[in-house]
Amino acid sequence: MTRVRFMEVVIVADAAAGAEIVGGAIARLIAARPDTVLGLATGSTPLPVYDDLVRRCDAGEVSFAQAKGFALDEYVGLPQGHPESYRAVLDREIVGRVDFAPDAVLTPDGWAPDPAAACAAYDRAIADAGGIDLQILGVGTDGHIGFNEPTSSLASPTRIKTLTEQTRVDNARFFDDDIAQVPHHVLTQGIGTILRARHLVLLAWGSNKAEAVAATVEGPVTSMVPSSALHLHPHATVVVDEPAAQQLRLSDYYRHVYDNKPQWQGL
Ligand code: F6R
Repeated sequence: MTRVRFMEVVIVADAAAGAEIVGGAIARLIAARPDTVLGLATGSTPLPVYDDLVRRCDAGEVSFAQAKGFALDEYVGLPQGHPESYRAVLDREIVGRVDFAPDAVLTPDGWAPDPAAACAAYDRAIADAGGIDLQILGVGTDGHIGFNEPTSSLASPTRIKTLTEQTRVDNARFFDDDIAQVPHHVLTQGIGTILRARHLVLLAWGSNKAEAVAATVEGPVTSMVPSSALHLHPHATVVVDEPAAQQLRLSDYYRHVYDNKPQWQGL
């Protein structure tokens, strides 16, 4: 069934409730199409969803045996195997905890001698896999998705980017609170790449994301807020907890829409 719905905002009590909804949607997707291609974010936001998927996998409710995955991004400049490289984070948080086949989840090659060629190869690998069915996204406090920082082209392919100081400050918590250890560069799926996924699911928890969420949902579509590009997508779902929703002017309307949503629509 073709479902053209554009942006939907789902406000949940807390991250656990959001994870249950998103985990359930992913499990149903994989049940319908075992060779589903998932787009996997890193950072702290998706962790409750990964925990939910691990629980469902352990319970025999979902199997990733035929599924594939693509990370959103990878740091450049960390030693191979660094525990905060997104390759290591994904292996630790989801890939190694469920039954993905070996090599079924790819990350951009942040160690490639030719980063431009590695980025082009990554976009080709996504296309060769048939494209991403469901892309999980977090959002930066500055509105970045992937590591597409403000003023990123809304049509951008996977490429190398330089992190803003704000993002390096935000991510220092993963590096002993030492900003000097946070790399300056990353390889990231572009906004154009992200927009080619068939379903975008952006998650945000906590009041420090409230401004970015309001700009994403209720501000103009602008490269100054990369997450606002979700308005250009035919099937984007924004799942936020109450604190992250607190600056939304139309929150009552979004709740009303979701409460009255026809069940057949799914997420
Ligand atoms: C991570 C990524 C980033 C994060 C964002 C939010 O793969 O692409 O866009 O989603 O920086 O990070 P957290 O979830 O740690 O707040």
